Amino acid sequence: MTIPVRAIGTALDRLDGPDKVQGTAAYAFEHPVDSPAYLHLVQSTIAAGRITRIDTDAATALPGVLFVLTHINAPRLAATDDAELAILQSEQIAFRGQIVGGVLAATPEIARQAATLIRVEYAELVHDTELRADRADLYKPQQLNAGFATDTSQGDVESALAAAAVRLDQTYSTARTHNNPMEPHATIAIWNGGGPVLYVSTQGVFAIRRAVARSFGLDPDRVRVISPHVGGGFGSKAFPHADVILAAMAAKHLEGRPVKLALTRQQMFSQVGYRTPTIQRIRLGADTDGRLTAIAHDVVEQTAKLKEFAEQTATPTRRMYAAENRRTTHRLAALDVPPPTIVRAPGVTPGMFALECAIDEMAAACGLDPIEFRIRNEPTTDPESGRPFSSRNLVGCLREGARQFGWQQHDRTARSCRQSGWLVGTGVAASTYPVHYRLGSTATIRAGGNGRYTVLIGAADIGTGTWTALTQIAADALAVRVEDIDLRIGDTAFPVAIPAGGSSGIISWGTAIVEAAGQLRRQLETEHGGRVPSTGVEVTADVPDNPHQNQFAMHSFGAQFAEVRVREESGEVRVTRLLGVFAAGRIINTKTGRSQLLGGMTMGLSMALHENSVLDHRFGHVANQDFAEYHIATNADVGSVDVHVLDEHDPYVNPMGSKGIGELGITGTAAAIANAVHHATGVRVRDLPITLDKLLR
Ligand code: MOS
Repeated sequence: MTIPVRAIGTALDRLDGPDKVQGTAAYAFEHPVDSPAYLHLVQSTIAAGRITRIDTDAATALPGVLFVLTHINAPRLAATDDAELAILQSEQIAFRGQIVGGVLAATPEIARQAATLIRVEYAELVHDTELRADRADLYKPQQLNAGFATDTSQGDVESALAAAAVRLDQTYSTARTHNNPMEPHATIAIWNGGGPVLYVSTQGVFAIRRAVARSFGLDPDRVRVISPHVGGGFGSKAFPHADVILAAMAAKHLEGRPVKLALTRQQMFSQVGYRTPTIQRIRLGADTDGRLTAIAHDVVEQTAKLKEFAEQTATPTRRMYAAENRRTTHRLAALDVPPPTIVRAPGVTPGMFALECAIDEMAAACGLDPIEFRIRNEPTTDPESGRPFSSRNLVGCLREGARQFGWQQHDRTARSCRQSGWLVGTGVAASTYPVHYRLGSTATIRAGGNGRYTVLIGAADIGTGTWTALTQIAADALAVRVEDIDLRIGDTAFPVAIPAGGSSGIISWGTAIVEAAGQLRRQLETEHGGRVPSTGVEVTADVPDNPHQNQFAMHSFGAQFAEVRVREESGEVRVTRLLGVFAAGRIINTKTGRSQLLGGMTMGLSMALHENSVLDHRFGHVANQDFAEYHIATNADVGSVDVHVLDEHDPYVNPMGSKGIGELGITGTAAAIANAVHHATGVRVRDLPITLDKLLR
């Protein structure tokens, strides 16, 4: 099922690059529309309760204000089962910052000013926003995000732990962090003739179409969503949020006049989800040879009372290491907070922080080098399903990384290296991410009589390089040059496609394109003597079932190495060196692929040292809700970051042999840094982010 490759695997420059650097690539808010109205959110100032009175008179009286939407005058939605999207349908308040109104005005400034003039009175309830592991009301969700099982269990963990020669029992915690793509969420909505056209900054135009059609009781064909260029998306743009519904409501009210809504950076901290904080207890047992006999990973995390989201935090623990006795559990606290959502490698990112720190601690307890300890516990088959891996090169990544990083040169004793006031340390951790081959994408290819091939699929380029990578795949699948391909993506006018999420975009859309190309070539052979007739030929094909999917466990792996310097007198941490070695099947575009992995690692560094949405429990909002106080790693925070990709051939995953790389790079980075900080200082920080107060005794 594999295709010969020529364009695939090259470092083709981004095809959308010139348009982007020249400013002609239109992002959602920039599509030219005539005399738009501007929409601004009105948000609740309580975390729980109900509205008793809403006074819009002063706002409405402001010159330039067109209309104020509230729960009293807003259209009734046809579907309200997604409570996050069912805005302005009642007086109930489920979290601080929830949309309680929308002001439409002639300019964004007037809309914003008018929003401040709206007086809302509430009957406030006592709210509860604090995640703790000792809460009495923790509950077991039916399943986790993406359908993963809530709990798994094999053997007898408790007995194995009791009998183990070496034991570890530690709790690790990670911070609430927010999706903050460079381009905040934005929408232009125009309601014309029974349905809207929406320009949305989204990871999936069809996900937006489905939500808007359902909410307004429309046939999906009446809703068109356009999104050719997106300024970043880490998960918040994969699922629709309430801002799009509000924009559509406002457009419906103004029938015919375009409505523009761009979230402010501060609104990003209440409207579009976030990564749940986690509290993770890990228990490990090993024999005297350092072979794991028991692995238990028990997770406590939060969801919203309004809508359940259950992060799959312990799922990587189900496949990383061999041990006969094992269990993973997830328990949730439902709080008066906005619903959490997916953020780059949901679950795997916080889960691998805890697991890979615990493995580092356990290796030391067993008297083994952490790389040797991992190799000793490498499973021969997927530990929980028993299936063989379609390919698994974690050991190769560890070995190659150790060689390139100079791992053996470092004395593993903590606090063993001091250089002019800085403690220097090195750490290692593993990375992993599942291969989510997903059905539900369709590609159309039109062979023109003129030697050109138009490829249509409603895929997204969220900055990752989809325009380029899908063109490379199409060229190889059709056995033509990349110059002969005209790719069209980011529009529901094209065939249906899954969103860019779960690192599944390129592999799933690419498979649809390969399938359509194969059918097209066969049709040209059998019906047209191998030549494109002057009238052209068009073929449409869906992503087919992968017969290998149930035979193999399919995952990508990697090894991350970090060097840190910690100033002895202040606790200041600098990451001077990161090296990631990854095995993720065939890389479609080596340049954009490298960017994905570099970006993931940088985001992992940011998680390790900086990112932390601090909730003010008195009010239930994120106190540091802007870029002055929510720190994301910038160039000055990042030393040398290097990526190396192993040559991995996997004939089972899909016709390209690719595994997806959007998320792999962030997994394990924070643990490698925490492990390096421990090596440098002797202080084991089990609570992210690693701020300097945690390193001063
Ligand atoms: Mo990514 S968190 O699956 O959009």
